[in-house]
Amino acid sequence: MGLPAALQSRSGAGGDVVNTTADDFDPIPSTRHRIPVTVGSLKQAEQEADALAVPVASGTEPPDELGTDAAGLASAGFSGMRGQTLVQTRSGGPVRVAVGTGVPDQVDVTLVRDLAAEFARAVPWHKRLAIEVPSRTTGISAGDFAQAVTEGVLLARWRYFVGQGADTPQLESLLVVASDEHAAEVAAGVERGRIIAEACSLGRDLANCPATTLSAVRMAEVAVEVGARTGLQVEVFDKDQLIEMGCGGLLGVNRGSVEPPRMVRLRYEPAEPTGRIAFVGKGIMYDSGGISLKPSDESHAQMKNDMTGAAAVLASMTALQALGCTTAVTGYLMCTDNMPSGSAMKLGDVLRMRNGTTVEVLNTDAEGRLVMADALALATEEPVDAIIDIATLTGACLRTFGVEIAGVMGNNSAVVEQLRSAGDLVDEPVWELPLHRSYRTQLDSPIADLTNMGGINAGSITAGLFLEEFVDSKPWAHVDIAGTAQLPAPRTWRNKGASGFGTKLLIEFARAFAVPAEDSRQVVPR
Ligand code: BES
Ligand code: ZN
Ligand code: ZN
Repeated sequence: MGLPAALQSRSGAGGDVVNTTADDFDPIPSTRHRIPVTVGSLKQAEQEADALAVPVASGTEPPDELGTDAAGLASAGFSGMRGQTLVQTRSGGPVRVAVGTGVPDQVDVTLVRDLAAEFARAVPWHKRLAIEVPSRTTGISAGDFAQAVTEGVLLARWRYFVGQGADTPQLESLLVVASDEHAAEVAAGVERGRIIAEACSLGRDLANCPATTLSAVRMAEVAVEVGARTGLQVEVFDKDQLIEMGCGGLLGVNRGSVEPPRMVRLRYEPAEPTGRIAFVGKGIMYDSGGISLKPSDESHAQMKNDMTGAAAVLASMTALQALGCTTAVTGYLMCTDNMPSGSAMKLGDVLRMRNGTTVEVLNTDAEGRLVMADALALATEEPVDAIIDIATLTGACLRTFGVEIAGVMGNNSAVVEQLRSAGDLVDEPVWELPLHRSYRTQLDSPIADLTNMGGINAGSITAGLFLEEFVDSKPWAHVDIAGTAQLPAPRTWRNKGASGFGTKLLIEFARAFAVPAEDSRQVVPR
């Protein structure tokens, strides 16, 4: 009798079976079942749902189906203020939940997504939810409203749980209530919302999966599996191939690990591309720091999420075909553990990266930039209009921006601006740091082209300057998600724990991408 399938899949390059633990969880549980989201009438909601959300703007009479008027709501302390929810108990039909949308002309997708999530959280035990799209929406189309409520409800109800009862669904169905007049537009919005929420759930599953289960080998297998059903070409590169290709950064970091490395290249090729971009994701499946070992504190315990960049690249790319994205996208997942061992990198070792640059390793915990360097160099070897890398790169970024905002820096103002605007729309905000050349000397090495270690200050910027050495002056931006990759508490549609931040950002960036003009090269101070 052979090994169970899941354990067989642990076979690394050359057939070495590694890490056969009994604790073998499905790394992507939320992709195994699809929550049905449909569009229907109020009557259908009355019959099928067990909770119905009714949006109420402040200072307005609520629709009849709420079963009370503005005075009744006011007596319960509900004024329609944005984000307010009021659960109306009743004996027949679905429980009604008034959700406040605030001042009507200030409604935007971020608010609607948040409201839908608040509704889903206000009735945690109800599993068949319905939510109304108001017949008249101000400032936002019925389709965008429907997309936002679908994202909000599905993401608020997502969870990563491998304990007993894990198979019981958190949500059985979502019905989006719309008038006949808007039904087609609402159905299209629901479909967009479902595709994006499912991609985001995949990103979260991957980022939350324990590192021993989700090895680099397993990550590549997941990419092959999900790529096959979402219209992507997937190539997996093993250790021998990486040696052949001269990917000294990924190989150097992998030296301390018993798990083999993997590089995955994903391709999405629409029929007539309107632009070409590359995404590069940091896939450190577990970051112990290597011989520059991290202290045993809370942040060390979070380091299974050090592959959130790679998760976001893979997850975002699963949505491109379904959304009809016209930008061609190549994605690189740079996957390995960073572990200390007798074979690990030593301080002072020199690595030769894919583009020939040599790097003196002065801290093995600054491993992210080493694995990213090879992929950035590879990305420049093909025609590309912009390169975006995304990585849990520096603790300094967490200190600077906290857990709500990611850092961005780059050599092209148009690309940075497109990322900022995508982040605003999907509520994964990014904010720019200066890629100031005067700090570049901190990376000088007496024996190699570069060191991997800047000074103690401006750590996010020196990490960005390191990466810039590998982009061959192509339009490029780097997103540092070290802060946003982990949340201490749930908030609206966001989950506690590994957040998978970046999936929605990259989807929207690719969807809206416009080739930067020649003169958008950033004038960066020297
Ligand atoms: N994965 C970490 C960055 C990180 C820290 C992410 C905290 C999330 C929370 C990265 O590999 C790292 O350790 N960076 C070092 C770089 C330093 C040694 C130059 C850091 O930020 O301390
Ligand atoms: Zn590190
Ligand atoms: Zn790391």
